[in-house]
Amino acid sequence: MNANQLIIEAKRELVSANSRFGLQGEEEEDAWTLLSHASGEEPGLLDEIPPATVRRFRRLIRRRQAGEPVPYIVGWAEFSGLRLSIRPGTFVPRLTSEFLAAQAVRRLRRRRRPLHVDLAAGIGPVAIAAAMAVPQASVWGFDISSRALSQARKNAAALELDNIRFRLSDLFSGLPASMRGAIDVVTIHPPYVARGEVGGLPVEMKGYEPRHTLTDGSKDGLGLVRRVISEGPRWLRPGGWLLIEIMPSESARVRTLMSRAGLKEVKSTRGGYKETRVIVGRL
Ligand SMILES: C[S@@+](CC[C@H](N)C(=O)[O-])C[C@H]1O[C@@H](n2cnc3c(N)ncnc32)[C@H](O)[C@@H]1O
Repeated sequence: MNANQLIIEAKRELVSANSRFGLQGEEEEDAWTLLSHASGEEPGLLDEIPPATVRRFRRLIRRRQAGEPVPYIVGWAEFSGLRLSIRPGTFVPRLTSEFLAAQAVRRLRRRRRPLHVDLAAGIGPVAIAAAMAVPQASVWGFDISSRALSQARKNAAALELDNIRFRLSDLFSGLPASMRGAIDVVTIHPPYVARGEVGGLPVEMKGYEPRHTLTDGSKDGLGLVRRVISEGPRWLRPGGWLLIEIMPSESARVRTLMSRAGLKEVKSTRGGYKETRVIVGRL
C-alpha cells in the first residue's frame, strides 16, 4: 500500500472513533504524524510503505482510536514552533496556551532584566517559549508534579536555554523569599475543570491525562485561581502583571476576583481561539 491509501484508511477509522469517543484533533494530521513516526520520517504521498511499517502504523492507529493522545504515542508535542518531549503522566500542552506565552512575552520585552514566574508549568511550554523569546529574562517554572518538572528540565536543556529553572512548588509556597515583590510577570494555566465536570470530558483527557492536571478538585474549578489572585499581589513588583488562562465562561468572575484583590487594568484578552481567554491584571 502507498502512504496515501494508508492515510485514507486511517482517517476513516479515526473519524469513526472520533464520533464514538469524542476524540479531538485533526484526523488526517494525526494519521500523517503517526505514519511518519512508524516510518521514521515523513513519507511522500505515493511512496510504497513496507509491510512491517504498515503493521506498526496500524498498531499506532488502534492506540489513537482508543483515545490515547497523539503526543503520548509519538513522544513530542508542538508549541510555539518548538518540539517539546512529553511522556504519559503529564499534561499535553495546548495550542491555546501559545497566546498566554505571547501575552507574557509582550510584557517581558519592555523590561530590562525581567523576572517571569510560570506557575503550574507542566512540561514547560509557556516558560520555555518566554525564555526563548526574551533572552534577557530570568524565567522560573513551578509545578507540584516532579514528573512534569523533570520533563520540563529536559526540554529546556535540549534547547540549550540558560535563563530558565524549574522547581517543585505548590503555587507560590516554594518560591524563594527574594522573589517577594520582585516578579514582573506571573503566568498560570491552571487545572480549571469543575470537579463534577471531569466525567464529561473527552476520553483522551479523562482517560489519559492525570486528574490533578485537569481539576483542582474544587466545585467550580476556580480553587487555584482564587489562591493565585489572593497571594499573587504580594509577589509582584509594582507595575507587574498577573496573567491567567481560563475558560471564557469564567472570565467575568475572574475579572471581578482580580479587581477585588486590588489589581488594576484588569481585562479579558483573547487570541485566535474560542476555547480560552487570558485575564490580565496589574499591580
Ligand atoms: C492545565 S496543566 C498546565 C500545564 C502547562 N502550563 C501547560 O500549559 O501545558 C496544569 C498543571 O498544574 C499543575 N498543578 C496542579 N496543582 C498545582 C499546584 N497546587 N501548584 C502548582 N502546580 C499545580 C499540574 O501538575 C499541571 O502540570
